[in-house]
Amino acid sequence: MATAEVALQLYDGAGPQFWGSNIGYRKSGSSFPCRSFERCRKKRVLKSMKSLKCLSSSCRGIRIHQFPCINGVSHRYAVTDKFGLSHCQCQSADNVGGLTAESGNGTWFVDNAKDFNSTNGNVRNFLELGAVKELKHDKELHHSNGNPPSDKTIQDGMNKGKSSFIENEAWELLQESVAYYCGSPVGTIAAKDPTSSSVLNYDQVFIRDFIPSGIAFLLKGEYDIVRNFILHTLQLQSWEKTMDCHSPGQGLMPASFKVRTVPLDGDDTATEEVLDPDFGEAAIGRVAPVDSGLWWIILLRAYGKCSGDLSVQERIDVQTGIKMILRLCLADGFDMFPTLLVTDGSCMIDRRMGIHGHPLEIQALFYSALLCAREMLAPEDGSADLLRALNNRLIALSFHIREYYWIDMKKLNEIYRYKTEEYSYDAVNKFNIYPDQISPWLVGWMPNKGGYLIGNLQPAHMDFRFFSLGNLWSIVSNLATTDQSHAILDLMEAKWADLVADMPFKICYPALDGQEWQIITGCDPKNTPWSYHNGGSWPTLLWQLTVACIKMNRPEIAAKAVEVAEKRLSRDKWPEYYDTKRGRFIGKQSRLFQTWSIAGYLVAKLLLANPGAAKILITEEDSELINALSCAICSSPRRKRGPKPSQKTYIV
Ligand code: GLC
Repeated sequence: MATAEVALQLYDGAGPQFWGSNIGYRKSGSSFPCRSFERCRKKRVLKSMKSLKCLSSSCRGIRIHQFPCINGVSHRYAVTDKFGLSHCQCQSADNVGGLTAESGNGTWFVDNAKDFNSTNGNVRNFLELGAVKELKHDKELHHSNGNPPSDKTIQDGMNKGKSSFIENEAWELLQESVAYYCGSPVGTIAAKDPTSSSVLNYDQVFIRDFIPSGIAFLLKGEYDIVRNFILHTLQLQSWEKTMDCHSPGQGLMPASFKVRTVPLDGDDTATEEVLDPDFGEAAIGRVAPVDSGLWWIILLRAYGKCSGDLSVQERIDVQTGIKMILRLCLADGFDMFPTLLVTDGSCMIDRRMGIHGHPLEIQALFYSALLCAREMLAPEDGSADLLRALNNRLIALSFHIREYYWIDMKKLNEIYRYKTEEYSYDAVNKFNIYPDQISPWLVGWMPNKGGYLIGNLQPAHMDFRFFSLGNLWSIVSNLATTDQSHAILDLMEAKWADLVADMPFKICYPALDGQEWQIITGCDPKNTPWSYHNGGSWPTLLWQLTVACIKMNRPEIAAKAVEVAEKRLSRDKWPEYYDTKRGRFIGKQSRLFQTWSIAGYLVAKLLLANPGAAKILITEEDSELINALSCAICSSPRRKRGPKPSQKTYIV
């Protein structure tokens, strides 16, 4: 349905009511019936006897927390045991109760995702077959013209063989990293490094780390693991979480979770599996992962697009989950900017690196998640305000980023000549940026052709560092304009030696050094210059690079990067990150067999072989947004002072 239509219907309150949370709520009673939870219990003595048991008596020992109604919706629950300790009831995803959009009458959702699996081919086999066919074809060609194969042809053939060997290894390793809960695959652990003495939390399923794994599985036609992941993490969203008596917002998704086997209450001979989430209360630095919920929405859309199974996103509990994330992100605060204000370390860079404020990575994911959610939210009365807020935010956010985060030679020169201390409504230098802030490295680094979105913008502060993930995802999500997106790729090509060199892809450029490093990172020995988050090279970024290049119809850039990575990744045992300015060394504290390095490579390969599949991740600009945006641009930067115009909202 066109966005304009949706808005009009919402505005009129006359939207089609396929279902509504109110209806579902009324029909299923004022509170959820005491449901029987499936618990995964195992007799210790009979280790092999792993059984899924549905014990209705579980309800007796469990407090079910109903969360306050959000516009009359109250469908989420979390459980605590009799001691008040949070733990997850082991439910198989198939039985994680939900109502389909159509039913809305209390019928439990019946799983049908499995059917999709059987009808889909195995992408890996298809690709391998493709490579073999090409080799055969090469061979035939040589025979037909009577000439022996040239050195180049032999080399190409060998490279193809080598790359399919690497792919096979990657698939095996990815499979080995799968975490099971009650016998079902629910995610992949961050790393399975046999050489590392301290596991830390790398044996957990990280939400952000699972995204490339999930995409790889989707592209391969293995949908169950993604579906289970989506539904189980959704259950964790409602968890009671506190740190020193303080609870973060309800829509928060965990950074990671671990499948634990614990002794069963009152039975010495049995164990049960529980999902133990970490919302940042145990994480190093105690940061809440803002990106988790945003990635979750992006993956949910990709799942629907790839599998064709829309029943997951239509479930009431999933719809409520989306709304909870949105409400948390769209809540009013003290902000003057439409960008999301977050603390340092709340995304892929999860420790102090001076990215607090409005980091680009979060803004790109936020924008992407808003667009994905808009596509998936079922129109209903209760969502009109939310949809309106979402649309207004999309417009304001894209204007803000495109206008104020963009930098190229021309803009740099403008900043260089900025006047400061402009008190007025029509200031050009709105954020009072002092030209002296332009770092000397940037003056030499900025290519004549190309540009990028800066890392962060605050009053009197522009963080000029180039952050890869934010720039790549701005292309994918369409947060950057088409021209800007091409310019970002131009810059990547021009600065290949800095951003790719011996291993794709630098997480940020340049590294913090000297006193700046001391002050900003707090002397973090893991984030020394050109290491880890401080200018280290992360192979996982290959997949985002590939999606961005495919979107702009320039896949050859990604193919070149994959070729560089392929030379070392398997040989080096799939490191988490590389160190030094050119990415020559395996990172000082880098894990080996890091799952998202493996999955990132696989996704890049799968998408390059089948670029059309990238559309499950890409969002295109829609014309209503463009129109509303051009209105915003026309009225800026010289906005006249005066009374607030009467309710000028952009309803798209
Ligand atoms: C590191 C990364 C983080 C990742 C985690 C698990 O802490 O910074 O983004 O999720 O490792 O791999």
